[in-house]
Amino acid sequence: MPENEKKRQFATVAVHGGQSVDKTTKARAVPIYQTTSYVFDDSAHAGRLFGLEEFGNIYTRIMNPTTDVFENRIAALEGGVAGLATASGQAAETLTIITLARAGEEIVSTTSLYGGTYNLFHYTLPRLGITVRFVDADDFDGLRAAINEKTKALYTETLGNPKLDVSDIETLAGIAHENGIPLVIDNTSASPALTRPIEWGADIVVNSQPSLSAGMEPRSAASSWTPGALTGPLRRASSPTSSIPTRAITVLATRRHSGTWRSF
Ligand SMILES: Cc1ncc(COP(=O)(O)O)c(C=O)c1O
Repeated sequence: MPENEKKRQFATVAVHGGQSVDKTTKARAVPIYQTTSYVFDDSAHAGRLFGLEEFGNIYTRIMNPTTDVFENRIAALEGGVAGLATASGQAAETLTIITLARAGEEIVSTTSLYGGTYNLFHYTLPRLGITVRFVDADDFDGLRAAINEKTKALYTETLGNPKLDVSDIETLAGIAHENGIPLVIDNTSASPALTRPIEWGADIVVNSQPSLSAGMEPRSAASSWTPGALTGPLRRASSPTSSIPTRAITVLATRRHSGTWRSF
């Protein structure tokens, strides 16, 4: 996160965060870069990029300037060091878990879970050999007892959907860290406008952006606008896909003060 972003108010970060204005066009809105590939100055330049000796764009599945603004904006709003955009919240959850755990390993999750996440954890992950143990979020002894040497993460939601119970993030982070594992938290229902779990000790934050932006943009936008051959639940967000929530997120601070969250 750029140093000046840390000094900005939340509402300003929601509107401008993560964007470095293009020096040539000076476009105010975030441009949509509909490109898969990028031009290299010469083969030595390409070599340095692929060798990770120099930062730059290589291929859009890995990096795209439009997607980059969205990733940096969310990271800045959450107070994280970096973000990764996927085409859905469930893709973000899946990528997180399969990065942390492999076949034969385990996750401990609270029962404060969105139904789709429960299905992913209960039915799909076991097919990949990953076992998820479920314990109520306020049963701290039960959570400690469920963690063993195979456990790779503790998982919860800030506000369980639909129970709307509040996870004690600080205590859960403490339990995770006592055991040398990360606390992964789904912050969709609260959003960084209400709670920033990283400040309470969480290590990885997942958001379902269509849900977060609900009321602003159609949910289907994130998936139906994703072009290309990479279809399926794990696809990376494309540049048009990323531009939608990047716009929608600009009103996050306004919605914090409006009736949007009052139903909670
Ligand atoms: C709390 C929560 N997490 C995750 C998801 C899954 O997100 P997506 O539908 O973007 O895959 C949802 C969807 O409603 C949700 O409410």
